[in-house]
Amino acid sequence: MKLLVTGGAGFIGSHFIHHWLEHHPDDALINLDKLTYAGNLMNLQDIEKDPRYTFVKGDIADRETVFSLVKEVDIVVNFAAETHVDRSVMGVEEFIRSNVLGTAVLLDAVKEYGKRMHHVSTDEVFGALGPEDPPFSEITPYAPRNPYSATKAASDHLVRAYYYTHGLQITISNCSNNYGTHMFPEKFMPLFICNLFEGKKVPVYGDGLQKRDWIWVDDHCRGIEAVIEKGKIGETYCFGGGGDIANIDVVKMMIELTGRDESFIEHVKDRAGHDRRYDVDYTKAKTELGWEPSVRLREGLSEMVRWYKNNPDWIEQCCSGAYQDYYKKQYEQR
Ligand code: NAD
Ligand code: DAU
Repeated sequence: MKLLVTGGAGFIGSHFIHHWLEHHPDDALINLDKLTYAGNLMNLQDIEKDPRYTFVKGDIADRETVFSLVKEVDIVVNFAAETHVDRSVMGVEEFIRSNVLGTAVLLDAVKEYGKRMHHVSTDEVFGALGPEDPPFSEITPYAPRNPYSATKAASDHLVRAYYYTHGLQITISNCSNNYGTHMFPEKFMPLFICNLFEGKKVPVYGDGLQKRDWIWVDDHCRGIEAVIEKGKIGETYCFGGGGDIANIDVVKMMIELTGRDESFIEHVKDRAGHDRRYDVDYTKAKTELGWEPSVRLREGLSEMVRWYKNNPDWIEQCCSGAYQDYYKKQYEQR
């Protein structure tokens, strides 16, 4: 089989590419990535010369590029997106272009050549849970509440619309918060780990009692693999890590694992429209795909802390250029 993986130079996409090539030695794979600030070819350095792997720098919203590549493959696995909620609060245009228009262009190409597509989405499309609400599942109505999740919801709707309208062979997965190695250090966990290593305070939004469900990135990649291999066309599958936890409790774990203390905690102004709680029920993935998460939060977080400690060059590369400008702007606004 030949795959077109989009956004493969990012956090989850690069893990997926490694996972797929390791477990499917006879397959070939093209990685189409625009190399935004979040795309990093260092994530794929070890497979650069693998004859099964080809990298193409390009935009999923560019029809010519997309049509020429989709023609060559059996399946598209779409990771490419703008993914950071805080950035979407500052401006949504790039999110609309990549997440909505980009997905539409991929769908048109998949339709033209009669291929299959798996669309990687998020639990944020379901909105925010109250303290006593049951976790999100495949039947939870869509209710996105921030600009990022609104664009991801729009892309999911388009994918489903192409299934009903044009009979496209699609599947969708909605997953909770991923964590692991190679995660861009603007997101909560890697930002806090890097700050703690550097002896800087960690900016906890509001009271820090917001809850998230954390899934180890390679568990998510196994889930996507299971959908590609065993999922039913037209269906959605939810993936989660097995339970929600308050941000402040995760912060305390990171403090302990980096050998710091609670004087490093700084409560700052809350994120606008901050969703209070996410949690995911993965019963359907368990029953229909035989999938379950395998890494517990503390175990994964220790591995993550170890990796960030041992990879200062990777962090240095991420923290230059566009990222620094964004970081500065964020803090000037506080
Ligand atoms: P990321 O920000 O680390 O990587 C995104 C990648 O997409 C980058 O390599 C970037 O260069 C590329 N990209 C962006 N726009 C593009 C475009 N127009 N054309 C081609 N490439 C483009 O993101 P991630 O955390 O790896 O997330 C991957 C996917 O998984 C996204 O669709 C995201 O919505 C979804 N998701 C993420 C999480 C999470 O916790 N990180 C959870 C659930 C779902
Ligand atoms: O739920 C899946 C989503 O998880 C994905 O779709 C997104 O792409 C991904 O970025 C992530 O979104 P979150 O907004 O949940 O992740 P983030 O790492 O930005 O924040 C996690 C929590 O930590 C959230 O409650 C906000 C809080 N936070 C974040 C940052 C960056 C802080 O308290 N301080 C911070 O500096």
